Amino acid sequence: MVTTAPPQQKRLTVQVNCLAADTTTIRSLDWDRDRFDIEFGLQNGTTYNSFIVKGDRTALIDTSHAKFRDLYLQTLKGQIDPQTIDYIVISHTEPDHSGLVRDVLELAPEATVVGAKVAIAFLEDLVHRPFHRLVVKSGDTLDLGQGHILEFINAPNLHWPDTIFTYDHKTGVLFTCDAFGMHFCSDAVYDENLEIISPDFRFYYECLMAPNARSVLAAIKRMQALPGVQMIATGHGPLLQYNVAELIDRYQRWSQEKTSNEALVALFYISDYGYSDRLSQAISHGIVKTSVAVEMMDLRSADAQEATELVSRSKAVILGLPPTSGNGAGEIQTILGTILAAVTGKQSVGLFESYGGNDEPIDPLVSRFQELGATQAFKPIRIKDTPSEATYQACEEAGTDLGQTLNQAGKVKQLKALDADLEKALGRISSGLYIITAKKGELSSAMLASWVAQASFQPLGFTVAVAKDRAIESLMQVGDPFVLNILEEGKHLPLMKHFLKRFPPGADRFAGIRIRPGVNGSPLLADALAYLECEVTSRMEVSDHWIVYCTVQDGKVSDPDGVTAVHHRKLGNYY
Ligand code: FEO
Repeated sequence: MVTTAPPQQKRLTVQVNCLAADTTTIRSLDWDRDRFDIEFGLQNGTTYNSFIVKGDRTALIDTSHAKFRDLYLQTLKGQIDPQTIDYIVISHTEPDHSGLVRDVLELAPEATVVGAKVAIAFLEDLVHRPFHRLVVKSGDTLDLGQGHILEFINAPNLHWPDTIFTYDHKTGVLFTCDAFGMHFCSDAVYDENLEIISPDFRFYYECLMAPNARSVLAAIKRMQALPGVQMIATGHGPLLQYNVAELIDRYQRWSQEKTSNEALVALFYISDYGYSDRLSQAISHGIVKTSVAVEMMDLRSADAQEATELVSRSKAVILGLPPTSGNGAGEIQTILGTILAAVTGKQSVGLFESYGGNDEPIDPLVSRFQELGATQAFKPIRIKDTPSEATYQACEEAGTDLGQTLNQAGKVKQLKALDADLEKALGRISSGLYIITAKKGELSSAMLASWVAQASFQPLGFTVAVAKDRAIESLMQVGDPFVLNILEEGKHLPLMKHFLKRFPPGADRFAGIRIRPGVNGSPLLADALAYLECEVTSRMEVSDHWIVYCTVQDGKVSDPDGVTAVHHRKLGNYY
């Protein structure tokens, strides 16, 4: 069954599917959503998946985003009489899953809300009405009858401290909410096309799960103790039925890689409905791009001993400053005091505001860390207005800068380890010189590139190798447009010099450069020899780079006699 909103609005549709015995999903398909929380530039929309499990008693697992209120409630009523809902399981209280809990409770006031302790506490703020509740933790079960015994698993930090997974012993379906999800909207209910969903699955992991890699491993360990997971019913994107083992294995492998990195950054934030969560995700995404590990800890639910232990293991500490007043402010300030006492002068410290206004004493803290001798990880990030895409980009770039600094020592050691003859021989590979420019929404970026090679005739295509820690990498996801500007021998030095500069986070890369917009919106450099307007078609991951394959839509040479600038190197361990 498909119910569609009026055509003048963005496309919102609802899809219903029976996924296992007595188990139905209501998938809210948000086809055009192009931003999600943090710096996700969504190419493929997203979905919010809700589930009904009917034994002798009925459980509703998660709801939907408030924008689907009418469509979702109408669809729910088409499936069951809401008054027969006995339990509403809350996997995670973020509004994309719990945005309609209040509405469902209006229809089913006697239902019992089931969730982790911290989820129930969050929900009280969200629902503003009394409700029956059942706090659950790992190993607890709820018998719905007819063999549907629901077992709960705590999965803190995936993606908030409140997350639980729910496993149905009759069907082998594991409901995981954000974990194993992806922002991918299509009519396909399941993951039958692994190739198509893989880039989104990976990108989502990098943005949302990589900063919590230890928590991912802990959750997988608990999952492995279950009798057998036949299907993963995620909260976003297709349900995983065909590639369950493979996709769990990917999460495990990626998380093991993340947790094996030597350098670790501790990031303390506040999970709520404000900006702290989103800003911290952007910073952490920037850090993990450099292969430095991040562990995030929520100040609201942090344990003093765990926080101290995390600080002691970390090379850098980032603090999203909490408000000094309001609900729970006293406890949060106590934890903050513990963290401050644990930081030493050998660590780097980064501070960012979460709410703006004068409620966050950022300046006294900056002075305090200076007195301690701690290095500044990045300039304090001050939020005075609602953060824009540019704010999130600046946060990501601040994280990347920090990660690159922490990595520096290790990289030099690695490069020195190369065999001298080999590095000279490798250095004989020469290449052209190019500037890649990209614009997506209000964000733009540029990068000097030399590892570029034509790769196909039909369609016309080439590859470019982009280091994983490049800021522009976020704007070169599959489907993104960009421009390859080809530099001219003899005229290339000013442009090269400009784009080789180290730009501070959020800086305009094009200040003082002559540009005009291309057909695809990305900047064309007026002083380049030629340009190609391109679109990213696929990406291949190779250790420290992404090999980005692109097809070409348009191009022009400004000087028919001009020659491409060539880069000859002496050694193969540098660009
Ligand atoms: Fe999909 Fe963290 O909410």
